[in-house]
Amino acid sequence: MTSTATAHTNIALIKYWGKKDAILNLPTTSSLSLTLDKFYTTTTVSKNDSIDTLILNGQNVDARKIQNFLNILRDELGTFDQLTITSENHVPTSAGLASSASAFAALTAAVTRELALDLPNETLSRLARRGSGSASRSFYGHFAVWHEGIDDKSSFAESIAAPDMPIALVVAEVSSETKKVSSTEGMQRAMTSPDYSSWIQNSAKQFLDIQNAIITSDIEKIGYIAEKNALDMHALNLTARQQPFTYFTQETQQILAIVSDLRHKGILAFSTMDAGPNVKIITTLNEAPTIVNHLKKEMPHLKVQTAASGPGVTYD
Ligand code: PMV
Repeated sequence: MTSTATAHTNIALIKYWGKKDAILNLPTTSSLSLTLDKFYTTTTVSKNDSIDTLILNGQNVDARKIQNFLNILRDELGTFDQLTITSENHVPTSAGLASSASAFAALTAAVTRELALDLPNETLSRLARRGSGSASRSFYGHFAVWHEGIDDKSSFAESIAAPDMPIALVVAEVSSETKKVSSTEGMQRAMTSPDYSSWIQNSAKQFLDIQNAIITSDIEKIGYIAEKNALDMHALNLTARQQPFTYFTQETQQILAIVSDLRHKGILAFSTMDAGPNVKIITTLNEAPTIVNHLKKEMPHLKVQTAASGPGVTYD
């Protein structure tokens, strides 16, 4: 038998940037995300009788991270056979989009389906969190919140009731030769910042404020809060006491300046960035083409794509 599931990636508008338990992936703050329609992972699992194997976009690749995760699932769900995982990733790997979010969500969904376990999304979310924190949010369409929780059982994501709204995300992909700092490593460094405890406090307020903005479909306010939250997060990297660093490149700063400029011209545009140099611009479906055209004119080599709000996990 084989089982297939598709999960879309999500972008945090209120970021997860620090672990209070690195083994369980318990975050220091709650986070909130928008699921994207354009970027997703489809994963098929089938039993085999040798070793857990990963075939990613047609290539046999190093499966160690996946093997560790499958062993966590074996501990949690009861042991099961070795698996062949065949994954098609429709998330450009260099886009700084969390491809691990859609990957671990799709894998968790496909494995539990293969085991004929009909688990609620909250449980799948909790399990996927062990693979990658942001994966906990990828089971749901539209907006999701991941409650930080106090232990393994209480740290999971759920969907939030939100009106349909024409929110869009323009993804500006910059070329980067800078050495990557993994999200786990980046979080560890950021937590040494003297500003880290203020970040936790500010994030809690932003988490509540953005939910009010979502309920009233106030995309401008959503963008404003999300941009502030992202910049606060990236400031922690710079002010880290141990190995300060930044994901920003010159191109990142150029895009941020363009976004700020467009805003002064009356276009709804706010930036957010994750563990990489690329910029995602929060805007409306109406205004996205103006932003895309402007970016292409100013920075012709940029790869720019527009995504809208996307669906939750689906099964074939
Ligand atoms: O889930 P991870 O370990 O890839 O960490 C994700 C971290 C950010 O993308 C920067 C923020 C987030 O909440 O997605």
